[in-house]
Amino acid sequence: MRPLIAGNWKMHGSLAEASALASGVAAGSVKDAELLVCPPFPYLIPVKEALGGAVALGAQDCHAAPKGAHTGDVSAPMLADLGATYVILGHSERRADHGETDEVVLRKAEAALKAGLVPVVCVGESEAQRVSGEAEGVVAAQLAGSLPQGFAEAGGVVAYEPVWAIGTGRTPTEEDIAAMHARIRAELVHCFGAAGEGLRILYGGSVKPGNAKAILALPHVDGALVGGASLVAADFLGIASAA
Ligand code: G3P
Repeated sequence: MRPLIAGNWKMHGSLAEASALASGVAAGSVKDAELLVCPPFPYLIPVKEALGGAVALGAQDCHAAPKGAHTGDVSAPMLADLGATYVILGHSERRADHGETDEVVLRKAEAALKAGLVPVVCVGESEAQRVSGEAEGVVAAQLAGSLPQGFAEAGGVVAYEPVWAIGTGRTPTEEDIAAMHARIRAELVHCFGAAGEGLRILYGGSVKPGNAKAILALPHVDGALVGGASLVAADFLGIASAA
C-alpha cells in the first residue's frame, strides 16, 4: 500500500512561516508516498493555497458535533468545507491537555466520517505502561474504544505514537515497533475483517530523516506521523523519500 507521511505541525509557526513551509513541502518531488500536512486551524486556508493540491491538507482535531454552541471549537464539516481531507484525532497531547477519552475520540471519529474526512486515530502507551509490559493491551483497548463503524470503508488511519517517544529523540526498538504494529493489524482485522488488512498504520514519535528508512521498512509500518521534523521542509521531504 502507498505509504502516508503526515506532518503534525502542532501549535507552531507564524502565518508567514506556515505558508513558507507549505510551499517548501509542495516543491518537493516525492513519488512513492502520499504527503499530508496538518497545520494549526488559523493557517488551514493559506496552507492549502500554498500547497496547490499536490499535498493533502488535514486538521489536528474536530468537535464531535456538526454545529452548535461550542465556543472555540471547530466542526468536521467546517474542515471539509475548507478542503481538508484528513483529521488527526485522539493525539496523546489532546488526551493529556483536554482529558479526551476513547469515548470522546470515538464520537469525533464518527463526526469526521460523517463529514467525509478520513480520521487519523492516535494510540500509544505511556512509559510506565511500556515498562510494566502493558503496552499492547493499552493500545488494543484504545483501538477497541475509539474506532467507529465505517472506519475501514473510509480508509481510516491508525497512528501508533508511544507517548514517551514524542519529542524526546527516543524511539522504541525496531522489534518493539514491529510487534506493536503487528498487534494493531491483528486488532484491525478483528474489528473490520479483511478490510483491516488494507488500512494504514503509521508510526509516530521522534521520526527523523536519519531513522525513517529503518522504521518505514518494518512490516505493517505504512507511513509516519511526524512532529518536530515536519517543521523543516527538507527534513519532512527527507523522511518521505525514505518511504
Ligand atoms: O503527532 C506527531 C508527534 O506526536 C510526534 O512528534 O516531534 O516526536 O516527531 P515528534
